[in-house]
Amino acid sequence: MAASSLAIPQGRSAAVGPPLQSRKRVPALPCNLVVRSAAGEGSPAVEPDLSVRVNGLEMPNPFVIGSGPPGTNYTVMKRAFDEGWGAVIAKTVSLDSSKVVNVTPRYAKLRAGSNGSAKGQIIGWENIELISDRPLETMLNEFKQLKKEYPERILIGSIMEEYNKDAWHELIERVEESGVDALEINFSCPHGMPERKMGAAVGQDCALLEEVCGWINERATIPVWAKMTPNITDISQPARVALRSGCEGIAAINTIMSVMGIDLDTLRPEPCVEGYSTPGGYSSKAVHPIALAKVMQIAQMMKAEYNVKDFSLSGIGGVETGHDAAEFILLGADTVQVCTGVMMHGYGLVKKLCDELKEFMRKHNFSTIEEFRGASLQYFTTHTELVRRQQEAIRQRKAVRKGLQSDKDWTGDGFVKETESMVSN
Ligand SMILES: Cc1cc2nc3c(=O)[nH]c(=O)nc-3n(C[C@H](O)[C@H](O)[C@H](O)COP(=O)(O)O)c2cc1C
Repeated sequence: MAASSLAIPQGRSAAVGPPLQSRKRVPALPCNLVVRSAAGEGSPAVEPDLSVRVNGLEMPNPFVIGSGPPGTNYTVMKRAFDEGWGAVIAKTVSLDSSKVVNVTPRYAKLRAGSNGSAKGQIIGWENIELISDRPLETMLNEFKQLKKEYPERILIGSIMEEYNKDAWHELIERVEESGVDALEINFSCPHGMPERKMGAAVGQDCALLEEVCGWINERATIPVWAKMTPNITDISQPARVALRSGCEGIAAINTIMSVMGIDLDTLRPEPCVEGYSTPGGYSSKAVHPIALAKVMQIAQMMKAEYNVKDFSLSGIGGVETGHDAAEFILLGADTVQVCTGVMMHGYGLVKKLCDELKEFMRKHNFSTIEEFRGASLQYFTTHTELVRRQQEAIRQRKAVRKGLQSDKDWTGDGFVKETESMVSN
C-alpha cells in the first residue's frame, strides 16, 4: 500500500452530533480532512484515495481484519496494524472463557482440481472453531495495550453472550472500558454456541434479536455493528431488525453451515474428532458469490428504508483480491473484512488488496471509494423485468433489421437513413 493511504488523521476538532437518537459517542471530524480538487485538463491523474469514514471512524483503507484467528491476540493484531490494515476486529470474546473448549482438528479444506488433490487451489474452508478461549481479562488488557500504542487506528471488539441482559451489559461495559472504537456483535456463529442460545441462535430469530439488540444499544456508547448469519432464508429481515433496534451497522456474512465431506475409506465425516464430527462454518473463495448476494439484499433494504449515510455495511466472504473487495463496495459495502484470506496468505495481503483496488479505481477514474459505493445496485431487478427487457430488445433489433414496415412510413428528413436500413450487407 502506498504511504499516502496510510496517513492517519492526527487532530480532533469539535464533535459532530451522533447519528440517530442514540447516546453513543461518534468520533469528531479530524481537522486535517483532505479536500480533493478535481484534476484539471492535462493535470496528472489523482492517486485514488482509499480512506473511508464509517460511523464516524476514520480508516486509511476499507480493509478490515474479520473476527477469527487473525485477531486472536496482541501479537497478531499488532502485526495487522503494522502491515496497514484499515481496522482490526478481534476474535469474539464472552464473559466466561472457561465454557469455551476447542477441539483439534477443527479445520478442513476443499481444494479445486482432480479428486481434491493436495496440490489443488484451496477454494473452501470449514471450521468448527468456537469463540475465543482466552480469559476476557487477558484480551481486554491486550486491547488496552494496542489502543495505547496505536491510538489513531481502529480496533473493534467482537462480543457474544448468553441470553441474559445483565451479562450483556457487563460485557459491553468491560469491553468499552478497554478503549475499543466500536463493537461487532456476533449473532452468527453457526456451531457450538447456539446450544447456549448464543450466536446464530439469536441471528436466526428476529424476536430474540430485537430484544438482545435493545439490551445492547441501551448500554453501548460506541457504534455497534450486528454480524449476520447467512443460514437464514431472508437475511434482510434480521438486518432490518438490528438497525431498527439501534445498531449503527451491519456486517455480513459469517460462515455458512457445512459438512466438508465424508472419508470414503472410514465413512467418517470431516473434520474428524475421535471418529465423529459436527457441522461447521464454510468460508473462503467458494462463499464469495453467496456473500455478494446476501450483501446485495441487505444493501437494497438499507437503500429503500434507511438514510444510508447514517448506517454502515461491512461485506465479508471469500475476499482474496482487491477486485473481490471492489464487488462488495459496488454493492454498497463501506468496508470489506477478510478472515480466511489472511489465514492463507498472511497479513501482507493488505498491500495487494490496496494495489488491486486502486488499479480498479484508476481504470474507471474513481478518486474515492464513495464515488462507486453502491453503483451496481441499480442493475438488479426481478426476473419478470429481465424477460420484459429482453423481449423489448429483441423487438427493437428486429425492427431495425426489417427497416420500414410500410411505404407510408417514409419521411423526408430520415429518407437516407431509412433507405440504408433496408440495404442488405
Ligand atoms: C477459523 C475461523 C474462525 C472464526 N471465528 C470467528 C469468530 O470468533 N467470530 C466471528 O464473528 N466470526 C468468526 N469467523 C467468521 C469470519 O469472521 C468470516 O465471517 C467468515 O469466515 C467469512 O469470511 P472469509 O471468507 O473472509 O473467512 C471465523 C472464521 C474462521 C475461518
